[in-house]
Amino acid sequence: MVKVLALNGSPRKGGNSEILLEEALRGAKEQGAQATIYNLNTMNLKPCQHCGKCDATGLCVIKDDMQAIHQDIRTADRIVLVSPIFFFTVTAQAKIMIDRCQAFWAQKYVHKKPIPPGPFGRKGLLILVGGMKKEPKNKGFECAEAVSRAFFRTVNVQEHATLEYDLIEEKGAIRAHPSALKEAYEAGIALAINTPGR
Ligand SMILES: Cc1cc2nc3c(=O)[nH]c(=O)nc-3n(C[C@H](O)[C@H](O)[C@H](O)COP(=O)(O)O)c2cc1C
Repeated sequence: MVKVLALNGSPRKGGNSEILLEEALRGAKEQGAQATIYNLNTMNLKPCQHCGKCDATGLCVIKDDMQAIHQDIRTADRIVLVSPIFFFTVTAQAKIMIDRCQAFWAQKYVHKKPIPPGPFGRKGLLILVGGMKKEPKNKGFECAEAVSRAFFRTVNVQEHATLEYDLIEEKGAIRAHPSALKEAYEAGIALAINTPGR
């Protein structure tokens, strides 16, 4: 069974990110996938202290909720990262989680031991939502995509699909979008199917 790990960076309960995530997971579950969701905002996550210990061992020494996330990142077949744009990038909640993946960076690039792909390979889905209009001066989605790409590659997810929705400000406004929920649902299906060895 394909294991999907969903990481939600929005602090808003019932917000646009959560709505889109639910649709994506509905699609994935219909394909037989099993999903675990972490709402990062409610978790005890300390920011990376750059102590350097993970360079030596590949392991993070901070004992908080990140230990469970690390375990699930390691064993997931699919990772979904969803975040609103806050000040032109992912939320602090998402960024703290991402920075704590420095331990995986050390495993991959220092110890040359990237997370091994399981029987289904490893794939990702990035969902971003922002209130501002996407235009040449608004680099929010671009910056969030760059940060998220670094995260995915570090945890050895070599390919990911991206859904981006601009001009979505109010809580729940995504429900009025003409295609977003359907696209998220279909992205969830695509995430779970076409898997090698299935
Ligand atoms: C602190 C803060 C910073 C924000 N910065 C941006 C931004 O830089 N660009 C943008 O498009 N929207 C920005 N927004 C708007 C949110 O991205 C938008 O309301 C989004 O729909 C929230 O998603 P959620 O309901 O999943 O939390 C910001 C909102 C807050 C609270």
